[in-house]
Amino acid sequence: MTTAYTDTRGSISAIEGVYAPQEDSHLLIDVMDRSGLVPGRRVVDLCTGSGVVAIGAATQGAAEVLAFDICPRAVRCARANAAAAGAEVSVHLGSWTRAAEFGPFDLLVCNPPYVPHAPGEDTEEVAGPSWAWNAGRDGRLVLDPLCASAAELLVDGGTVLIVQSEFSGVESSLDALNGCGFIAEVVAEQQIPFGPVLSARAKWLERMGWLQNGRREEKLVVIRADKA
Ligand SMILES: C[S@@+](CC[C@H](N)C(=O)[O-])C[C@H]1O[C@@H](n2cnc3c(N)ncnc32)[C@H](O)[C@@H]1O
Repeated sequence: MTTAYTDTRGSISAIEGVYAPQEDSHLLIDVMDRSGLVPGRRVVDLCTGSGVVAIGAATQGAAEVLAFDICPRAVRCARANAAAAGAEVSVHLGSWTRAAEFGPFDLLVCNPPYVPHAPGEDTEEVAGPSWAWNAGRDGRLVLDPLCASAAELLVDGGTVLIVQSEFSGVESSLDALNGCGFIAEVVAEQQIPFGPVLSARAKWLERMGWLQNGRREEKLVVIRADKA
């Protein structure tokens, strides 16, 4: 199955098993656009999925865009989408940590897996490829190491833009980034209704005390961190 997503910026397809662009993808692209940080810059998109953010950066005038994903299907999909969009994006297979081989970059953008889940829980049948969003019990499987090593991927004066959920420790990201040479703040927020994954986990989130009883919406944030 292929999910097609089209907006004023063009058309992106997500083949089965690849994360189709959603609210978090759009929020990150919009912040990236409004930041004015892309034109003429070297950009890296970590956890690229369909490539939608990387293609957005190329379209916004980046000098060079590199993208990484651990999933071979995502890499194939991102390459196909970039070719179809006429966007120059160099898509690499592997963990985001491979970006260190190609740095430093001016701008790092990332929509990582960030959804917390109960140990042993599997929502594959609910919504598709869980590795695209599952991020351990606290949602920080990628966020913690990424915040800890982002400075090494960037030039001095470089910037990180990360999108994440309120349920994966926004303060933890801010503290980690501020603690290793960045000035970090939340620059965008969006409330969205629960999709199938969080709906399936709502009772567990309530039991953990992370979700008010009966509430069924989530706040997404984009964190901007500037390297001193
Ligand atoms: C939430 S999706 C985001 C996709 C796309 N950037 C977007 O905004 O629509 C997260 C992506 O991260 C990839 N991923 C998960 N763990 C990874 C890792 N350790 N290194 C690189 N990519 C990873 C998944 O395969 C998935 O494509």
